[in-house]
Amino acid sequence: MSHVMNTYARQPVAFVRGEGVWLWDEAGKKYLDALAGIAVNTLGYGHPKLKQALLDRVASGVIHTSNLWRIPDQEAAAERIAEITGLDEVFFGNSGLEATEASIKVARKYGHDRGIAEPAIIVMEKAFHGRSLATLSATGSRKVQAGFEPLVQGFVRVPLNDLDAVRQAGEHNRNIAAVLIEPIQGEGGINVSRLEYLRGLYEICQKHGWLFISDEVQCGMGRTGKWFVYQHAGFQPDVVALAKGLASGVPVGACVTGGRAKGVFKPGNHGSTFGGNPLAMTAVRVTIDTVKEERLMERAVKAGEVIRSQIRDQNLPGVREIRGMGSMIGIELDRPCGELVLQGLNAGLVFNVTADNVIRLLPPLVMSEAEAREVVSRLVPLMKAFLEKRVAA
Ligand SMILES: Cc1ncc(COP(=O)(O)O)c(C=O)c1O
Repeated sequence: MSHVMNTYARQPVAFVRGEGVWLWDEAGKKYLDALAGIAVNTLGYGHPKLKQALLDRVASGVIHTSNLWRIPDQEAAAERIAEITGLDEVFFGNSGLEATEASIKVARKYGHDRGIAEPAIIVMEKAFHGRSLATLSATGSRKVQAGFEPLVQGFVRVPLNDLDAVRQAGEHNRNIAAVLIEPIQGEGGINVSRLEYLRGLYEICQKHGWLFISDEVQCGMGRTGKWFVYQHAGFQPDVVALAKGLASGVPVGACVTGGRAKGVFKPGNHGSTFGGNPLAMTAVRVTIDTVKEERLMERAVKAGEVIRSQIRDQNLPGVREIRGMGSMIGIELDRPCGELVLQGLNAGLVFNVTADNVIRLLPPLVMSEAEAREVVSRLVPLMKAFLEKRVAA
């Protein structure tokens, strides 16, 4: 019996070695990874630059000091994040929920600073922001919230891609201080915000003086072909939440502020013992530098195009829609398809299923076009067999 708490329905496989986009299990079987540990392993597995930098950091004897002292690695990582986001200040935590939780706190503090006693935040249906009490309350999924009531107050929920709903919420609620949005919803089924919608949302925020908070924990870090989805839309948000792919597997979260959110947090407003420690910051620095040096955003776009177009060309009945941007891909089927995950593992392909009926592919950014074609040649037969079997039944 395992003493690991039973919070995940785990598949019966354990990966023990990796190289590039390939993984090996305990029995030595080889798998092609099209999930990257859920959008985490930006540089794939065993990238020599990351490996060496982490080894050097460990060899120095200093993997943690404290935020009581200056941390040069943290300063170097923050400088890079400021450069790629276009924003000013970075708070480091250790996970995605810490990044979004900090963003929610920034929004509330911003509201209070403007004389709003009970600030509210507009959030989206089907969004996922984490599993702390505040972030699960911001999340648009009853499944995530059930059993943990009372929820944290102060969230106003609207449908994605509906500007009128946002305008109406603004008219009826004088307490709104911010909008929090995943520009591409990951857990919710790879639901893409239209770029005109994002621009319209930004304009509404500008008009009312609300913060625009972009939760790019899953969709950010180059996966879509630009560092961040808001850069496709062409504006600067006030707050960006980052984690997952930011450090290629070392746990890091970041709440990045600029614009109206700059300077909202003062000493004592927030903190984290581990946040921004030298080990994690080394991974952030190397991840960002390597994405640039190896032009991995271009790779992500190409790999994504290959996968999307080749699956589309199959014209499989039962495929409702193929969505996404770059290497963030959702294939919606007309029926629940969770069983495909184990069938994939049996066929040596790693992916997952979200929102019951959406095959989700989030490959490492180092995936080549040939490897992307291999993803398709392993996935398509599985989809065909699955869809045909159900039609026949
Ligand atoms: C968009 C988004 N925000 C926040 C989170 C929470 O991240 P974590 O699981 O690291 O707390 C996730 C995790 O899937 C996410 O996809």
